[in-house]
Amino acid sequence: MALKITVIGTGYLGATHAAAMAELGFEVLGLDIDPDKIALLQRGEVPMYEPGLEDLLRRHVAGIEGSSGRLRFTTSWEEVGAFGDVHFVCVNTPQKHGEYACDMSYVDAAFEALAPQLHGPALVVGKSTVPVGSAARLAERLAKLAPAGEQVELAWNPEFLREGFAVDDTLHPDRIVVGVASERAEELLREVYATPIAEGSPFVVADFPTAELVKTAANSFLATKISFINAMAEVCEAAGGDVVKLAEAIGHDERIGRKFLRAGIGFGGGCLPKDIRAFMARAGELGADQALTFLREVDSINMRRRGHMVELAREAVGGSFLGKVVTVLGATFKPDSDDVRDSPALNVAGQIHLQGGQVTVYDPKGMDNARRLFPTLNYAPTALEAVRGAHVVLHLTEWREFRELDPARLADVAAEPRILDGRNALDAELWRKAGWTYRALGRPNA
Ligand code: UDX
Repeated sequence: MALKITVIGTGYLGATHAAAMAELGFEVLGLDIDPDKIALLQRGEVPMYEPGLEDLLRRHVAGIEGSSGRLRFTTSWEEVGAFGDVHFVCVNTPQKHGEYACDMSYVDAAFEALAPQLHGPALVVGKSTVPVGSAARLAERLAKLAPAGEQVELAWNPEFLREGFAVDDTLHPDRIVVGVASERAEELLREVYATPIAEGSPFVVADFPTAELVKTAANSFLATKISFINAMAEVCEAAGGDVVKLAEAIGHDERIGRKFLRAGIGFGGGCLPKDIRAFMARAGELGADQALTFLREVDSINMRRRGHMVELAREAVGGSFLGKVVTVLGATFKPDSDDVRDSPALNVAGQIHLQGGQVTVYDPKGMDNARRLFPTLNYAPTALEAVRGAHVVLHLTEWREFRELDPARLADVAAEPRILDGRNALDAELWRKAGWTYRALGRPNA
């Protein structure tokens, strides 16, 4: 009989995983402690913007016309415990307030609520990004709390999905990593992932600590790559070089590769910044802090980018923001997402506002979230409206919509046709031809 799957936590990760599991043919029950979120999902609506996710969900949510009916949602732990053969824990692990460490309270609460409901054989699979050592600790808690005792097992299966590509990354993962303590657990997970494995996704079997570390190591590497190219951008600016050319040239070396070498205002979002900090904090607890001191530098190069962008903008408007109108194009931490968590774009907008600038923000999808986080900024309904009267325009999130803008039309409404490209993504020639002064991070002024 086909496995029955539950997914605990229905954020970016959980909602996508639940819909993907239904797409793979399993009966799926999703749980969240937020009844509003559950009501929304039950109607086939997604609480965030993620391309393709709503379609996928609607194909499977029970009660929606034409759906497979394989996907349902609940707030009942009892129901989840009785339903599932495999339980995926997908709750979030944010940064703790006031410290670097990871806040494990949601993961811990999920295990404490789920375990007492497990009366028969079950595999609990952690997907959340956690400090190394958590799986071993949680396995002990499960053994203690689950009425079915040894019939309940734990596995760790980190998730590598990128926002904006979550559906594709989940259905066609570039690798599946599982930390297991038994062959039975491995076999069950091979069954769950049979389709992507048959398509050729590598299946890597490891122990608990290695599986946990794979995730933090991968994100640390990506963060390091971005900060590396941003450090090169700083040197390029000092030496009159062009970081975009430099990235292209070193990227031809296959060992280096071209991806994740886009210099700009740096990384943000709900993962990279907090994951490298939690990793440093955990290494400190383990007595291995020296091994990760370089991540402190990666973090500070990254944070410096935001300050540098503010400085360039201040310089562009003549040394002070007082009485100046500043347009910020982009609020989300990356395009194709409505996520503004630790967004470099909004951070820059906020700093300029605090320094007395009149900041107007426009973003294709992130306006509601941005408004909630920074209610004191101005928000315009279109890019054109946002640019009206601007003394300087900052391009801070590389949405396709911004690359497709007509610089000549914008020049007509701006007070000063001056643009700073914080993502090195606009066509400099096009903007210059339309009368703009174009400047980008890490590139010479033409
Ligand atoms: C990341 C990891 O990529 C993913 O594997 C993991 O599961 C979760 O964390 P995500 O947070 O969705 O995914 O975003 P990602 O695409 O990695 O981008 C992170 C940040 O880096 C964004 O702010 C982006 O603008 C920035 N970035 C990315 C750069 O500044 N330059 C680059 O070259 C690439």
